This record gives sequence, C-alpha cells and structure tokens, in this order.
Amino acid sequence: MSESLIDRAIEILRLNDRGTYTVPTSGLYPFQWNWDSALSALGFSYFDEARAWTEIDTLLAHQWDDGMVPHIIFHEEDDGYFPGPDVWQTGRPVPTSGVTQPPVAGFAAKRIFDRAKDRDLAEARARALLPRIHAWHEWFFRCRDPEGSGLVAIIHPWESGRDNSIDWDQPFAAVPTEGVQPFQRRDTQHADPSHRPTDEQYKRYIWLVQKFRSLGWNNDKLHDASPFRVVDPGFNAILIRSCADLAELADALDEPEIAATSRARVEAGIPALDALWSDEFGQFLCFDRVQGALIQSASIGGLLAAFAPISQDRAAALAARIDDISSRTNYLVPSHDPAAPEFDSLRYWRGPVWLIVNTMIANGLERAGQGDIADRIRTDSVRLIRQSGFAEYYDPITAEPCGGEHFTWTAAMVIEILNLHGEKA
Ligand code: GLC
Repeated sequence: MSESLIDRAIEILRLNDRGTYTVPTSGLYPFQWNWDSALSALGFSYFDEARAWTEIDTLLAHQWDDGMVPHIIFHEEDDGYFPGPDVWQTGRPVPTSGVTQPPVAGFAAKRIFDRAKDRDLAEARARALLPRIHAWHEWFFRCRDPEGSGLVAIIHPWESGRDNSIDWDQPFAAVPTEGVQPFQRRDTQHADPSHRPTDEQYKRYIWLVQKFRSLGWNNDKLHDASPFRVVDPGFNAILIRSCADLAELADALDEPEIAATSRARVEAGIPALDALWSDEFGQFLCFDRVQGALIQSASIGGLLAAFAPISQDRAAALAARIDDISSRTNYLVPSHDPAAPEFDSLRYWRGPVWLIVNTMIANGLERAGQGDIADRIRTDSVRLIRQSGFAEYYDPITAEPCGGEHFTWTAAMVIEILNLHGEKA
C-alpha cells in the first residue's frame, strides 16, 4: 500500500514539473511559489537528487538584490491567476511578487544535503546555495526587525503562507479598503468560494500591495509604512530553524562566518520567541507590532513553533496542547482550535489540515523527544491521503478534500513521511 502511495505521489510531482520548477497545482496556482518549491524539493530528493537541487536553485535565482526571495515567480504568462505581474509591478526581468514567504529553504537544503547519495553533486549545489540563503535570512533581520528584537514581522498575510488565518482578523482591521482599484478574483473560478478567503479580505490584501507598490518596493521603507506588522511564532520558528540548519550546513562546508552569524540569530531568537508563550492558551501566540499586544487567537502558528529548537518543556507543553485539540477533531492538526467560535472546518487556513505544517510540527516534536504525538500526526496525515487523495487541504472532522487537486507539496510530504516512517505511518 505504502509503495503505491509513493508511486502516486511521484506521478503528481512529475505532472506538476515544469522542467526547472514545479507549480503547486495547474489551474489554481500556475507559477512557482516559494515555500511550496523548497518543501517539494524534499520529495524529489528521493528519486532525482539533481532535480531536487534545481528546484531550490531556480527559486534563489530570482532573489532580489536586497536579499529578499519573492513568494511567487511568474515564469510564464497566465491570466488565470490574480493578482498577476501587472498588479505587482516589481520591475523584475522575470516578474515576481513583492512580498516573501516562510524561509524553509535552509531547512530543505540541509536535509537534502545530509541524505544525498551523490556527495559531489550535493557539495557543489549546497555550496552555491549557502550564501544566497544566508543573504535572505540576513535580509529578514535587517528589513523586518529594524529594532533588533530577534524576531521578524510579516507585513502581508500572504507572507505567512497562512493567508486567511484567524490570527490576522484583528490586525487586518487596521488595513483600509478605500482606494482599492476594482479587480476580478480568479481563485474562486478554480475552487469552491466557501473554501477560500472572502472578498473583504481580498480588498485588504490588494490595498497592501498597492501601498507597497507606491513605495517602489523599497524594503527600507515597507516595514514601518505597513499598517499590518505581525510577529508570527510559526513563521519565526521556520526562520530560526533554517538559521540553525544553515549553521550546520556551513560547518560541513567550512564556512565559519556564515555558521557563526546564523548561530547568533538562533541564540537571540529562541528567548525572544519564548516571550510569545501564553500560559492561558497553552501555546505560542502572534504579536501585533502595531498595537504592541499579543493576539488572542489559538491558531496552528503557535504550534508550529515546535519546529524551532525550543526548550524540552515548551515542546512537552505543545505536545499536551495538541493532544487536547485531538479530542475535538478526527485528524490532527487543524489549522485552528475547533473550540474557537471562528473555527471553520472548510475555509482554507481557518480550520483545515495542511500536510506541510503537520510534517514540520511532527519533525520538531520528534527532535524534542515527543515521538508519540509526532507519530500520531504523521499517521493522521497518511490516513487523510488514503481516504481523500492528494488535495490542497482537508476538513479535520470529515476528511473532505478541499481546494486544488493533485497538489505538489502534499505529494512531497507523503513521500517524505512514508520514506522516513513508513512502517509506523
Ligand atoms: C496559498 C497558500 C500558500 C501557498 C500557495 C500555493 O496561497 O496559502 O501557503 O504557498 O497557496 O500553494
């Protein structure tokens, strides 16, 4: 059974392969997405190492001069997606969006390097990627942490990768909707509108894009100019983990400066992350940098903090929290606690399960000695696939497949989970 699931997953990666990059799924997402690509490379690494490296290479080839790595690269024209290059107007030779996404590339590169069979290839490709990934990390601390707090802010919900999370409802109220140029959404033509963000949210997404565009995408200005500045524990955990992994990769490649700078980021980041812990919620919370307050919202962002090298005590508390959530759902890990009134089991990041987040949480908890709950998360992930196929995301109560079909990173995570934990999953 596991064998054939892996075969089907490989077929999906091949189906969405455009030669040097993959699309998340054709139709709904016809370009290259940042964290989709880095995580999908993990799937490729099991059957084509060169292709796995190329996936990350292509992403980093579109890094901006300031170090930012954009969230979408518009390799080909396709008017089936909104907002396209005409809205972003970032002035890049190959058009890109102007915001970023969770920096998982450092984690992915280290993992592909560690298990590579072709050592010469791995060393050459990792050596070329190392300074570019490092420049991206340093861009974050320079442009998104101007006061040197140790944690970075996102300035657009799309940067979090959790586009319409309940976490953003309150800070999003500070983003106006006046002056938004009329537009036509395309996502609702490819997917069920009741599974997608609302029109009201879309207006605010576009208001922010117009604002940043009016500032010429100058990252020295965007952070302070944005009415939306949120410190997301999940996003920061990914950055801190990638810095930790990059430090080890730099050691292996004998690049001591990159190793030392990256380690210092981890040392400053972990205590800063700990300040986002809430005893009341039993998990980490987002911090609204504009209001100067924690956001009282029990989303999966606060559980994804387990991906960073947090203390054993915190990891144990997160494991207990996930166990508690499991009493209210059939499949771990819902993107929001079902006990919250805003929970919506079908609407994108307001309740559904996403396999990429499951894989990262399980990975972090396992490293912290919480193997039992990590096994449960992975087992639930594979049960979902067996029952409902390779969807974009799933209803955590009924397992209904939602969003796009034949999804690349879902397939990649299945390959990853079954190869590493096949007998248990
Ligand atoms: C959606 C998701 C985002 C993902 C993209 C492509 O926008 O919220 O995380 O990167 O789709 O799959």
